[in-house]
Amino acid sequence: AVTNRFFSYERIEEISNYLRKKIAAAPEVAIICGSGLGGLAELITDKISFPYNEIPYFPSSTVPGHRGNLIFGILNGIYVVCMQGRFHPYEGYTTALCAMPVRVMKMLGAHSLIVTCAAGAINKDYNIGDMMIIKDHLNFSNFAGPRFPPVGHAYDREYVTLMKQVAIKHGHELREGIYSGLGGPCYETIAEIRALRILGGDAVGMSVVHEVTVGAHCGFRILGLALLTNKCLTEYNAAHESLHEEVIRISELKANDMQQLILNFVGVLKEN
Ligand code: 6GU
Repeated sequence: AVTNRFFSYERIEEISNYLRKKIAAAPEVAIICGSGLGGLAELITDKISFPYNEIPYFPSSTVPGHRGNLIFGILNGIYVVCMQGRFHPYEGYTTALCAMPVRVMKMLGAHSLIVTCAAGAINKDYNIGDMMIIKDHLNFSNFAGPRFPPVGHAYDREYVTLMKQVAIKHGHELREGIYSGLGGPCYETIAEIRALRILGGDAVGMSVVHEVTVGAHCGFRILGLALLTNKCLTEYNAAHESLHEEVIRISELKANDMQQLILNFVGVLKEN
């Protein structure tokens, strides 16, 4: 099939070999930074950075708030690889291609994958600026890729526990919930939000699920962290705001808290 090109073992190997020659060590942890959350890369030292357009077969980031660099270096004592900017199916790439870098990071040696994202709050009790561990997801985006991989245990339970401990230790409040992944790029209708709430969704976004699907397929231990940037509308008479600006504004406002959580979590991984 046409899409097989995007995740053939040989192609992933070719990309990995290209990068491996230029980096200092095998990364242990892979991190994908969501909208407005790419500032994490500034905490990485001994950096080697590759703009996506310099890496063979990589697509390029087209979304404002998403920079496009693959960054290797040391974060809190552990060698990491960080995607500063991710790929979304709504950019016109196949889901398999969007998630292809996950396979590259695995082949380079990473064993754990941390995905971060901005998301809308569906759960009535969750507020703007809350951070939420993703304990599971609802995947409403399509997929072309390997057939029938299991994803029932995609999110690592031990990592959820570890992250909660990290949050308590450093004084961060942390929610836990179900992330609904939709194709976008439009935000949701009120009927859709009401439906997602009935289905058990606590948050909604346009990313994460393709990366987690592929990450589970290639054997990553996965932690997902969402920053809730807005409360989703469930009433027709509610005021309509300019949502994308709000998403970017809140993610920039709370980016530092997200970064601290990840920094400290990665530090715990190093000890284990
Ligand atoms: Cl309300 N919807 C979606 N799909 N993604 C979002 C969001 C809402 N808020 C932040 N990201």
